[in-house]
Amino acid sequence: MKYTLMHKNIAVADVEIDEDLGVITSIDNISAKKHLPVGVVHQLRREKTVDRYAMNHWWAGRSIPASRMGVADALETLGVYSSMQLLTKCLGLSLSDHYWLRPYDSNITWEAVNFFDNDFSDDIGDVLFGTNTKNDGFDFVSPDNTSDGNLKKRWKIIDGKRCLVKSGSDPYSQQPFNEVIAAIIMKRLGIDHVSYLLTWLNDKPYSVCEDFITKDTELISAWRVLQLRPKANHENEYLHYVNICKELGVDIVPAIDRMIVLDYIIANEDRHFNNFGLLRDANTLEWIGAAPIFDSGTSLWYNKSASRFISSDIICKPFKKTHGEQLKLVSSYDWFDISKLDGIEGEILNVLCEDKAVRYVEAERAKAIAAEVRKRVDALENIVSNCSAYDVSSNDGDVEGNTAASYN
Ligand SMILES: Nc1ncnc2c1ncn2[C@@H]1O[C@H](COP(=O)(O)OP(=O)(O)O)[C@@H](O)[C@H]1O
Ligand SMILES: [Mg+2]
Repeated sequence: MKYTLMHKNIAVADVEIDEDLGVITSIDNISAKKHLPVGVVHQLRREKTVDRYAMNHWWAGRSIPASRMGVADALETLGVYSSMQLLTKCLGLSLSDHYWLRPYDSNITWEAVNFFDNDFSDDIGDVLFGTNTKNDGFDFVSPDNTSDGNLKKRWKIIDGKRCLVKSGSDPYSQQPFNEVIAAIIMKRLGIDHVSYLLTWLNDKPYSVCEDFITKDTELISAWRVLQLRPKANHENEYLHYVNICKELGVDIVPAIDRMIVLDYIIANEDRHFNNFGLLRDANTLEWIGAAPIFDSGTSLWYNKSASRFISSDIICKPFKKTHGEQLKLVSSYDWFDISKLDGIEGEILNVLCEDKAVRYVEAERAKAIAAEVRKRVDALENIVSNCSAYDVSSNDGDVEGNTAASYN
């Protein structure tokens, strides 16, 4: 079927979509090149045409990943083969940006369909959470069709606000608690972040955060930013990102410094390039700066037994393979006041030891987590006072690829 790819009310290009496969088979009549999704223009050809492969990569990236917890059962219930088939059923609309598909020759406006102003169905979220009461006749109009990430999640309108509700994974379901703890640490350190609260549904813990995107802003992941141009020979992943941001007029270094320090403190294992990014003005296309930090839950030894809380086991992303190496990329600690973390252990215990939490995180485990964080903060104190100039262009210990943790 033929559609016009829209960016709010701007017609960007005409696309043909194979509804069975959910893929874009042709792209014509590009009428607003500047509004094309970031990074879909051919990089290797002199004439800068749209790369259909890159466009499909972007489009597929809007769908629920095949690695999402419980997605196979959900698709079976919904009667579709692939989450790619869900995209056109909600016109590709999302709560993280403003791209959508307008059926060709229709004159629907963005105001009439966007999920920021218009309510959406709970059906897809109910199926994804396994709480559906119906087994057919689903209303597919939901931003859950365009949500990324491997943890079970759904968008929900709570008190008129668009909120993302996200689960944890077995065996400790720790991610929702970790999101809350990471937000507390960032608040203390003055790091721009998304606020997360804990909620319980059917006795299971979930994190809830408000949509940090508005009708006038959008999130462009670091991964998409990296697609703007190939990595130069002299660049490692870190410089590739930092330099492109600079070319876009954004000094991203202070935000990356803060993210690296946070991830060290919480032993974050999943800061891949889709877990941070830039904010862009959706109307003027001006780059605003770093997006507030979100998705910090795959941290704090979330899947390890307390006897395995050893630093060498911790995966590090996105730049270096170990947090120790990655910390060397931090260019300034001027902003970092370690005294702001005084007594952080107590606050961590408060989160992990709340009423029902003990069923998931036993008291001994909670104490071990709080103690490990304290150790990392103390180690950081030494690192800060002994840090010396480091060549950020070094390739030593670089991460290869961009993979997200999977929890199945
Ligand atoms: N508060 C938010 N507002 C807008 N978009 C969000 C928000 N939180 C997450 N997202 C988007 O949803 C995606 C999935 O959420 P994330 O928290 O990363 O889940 P997961 O832990 O499963 O990876 C993110 O990559 C981002 O694009
Ligand atoms: Mg994520």
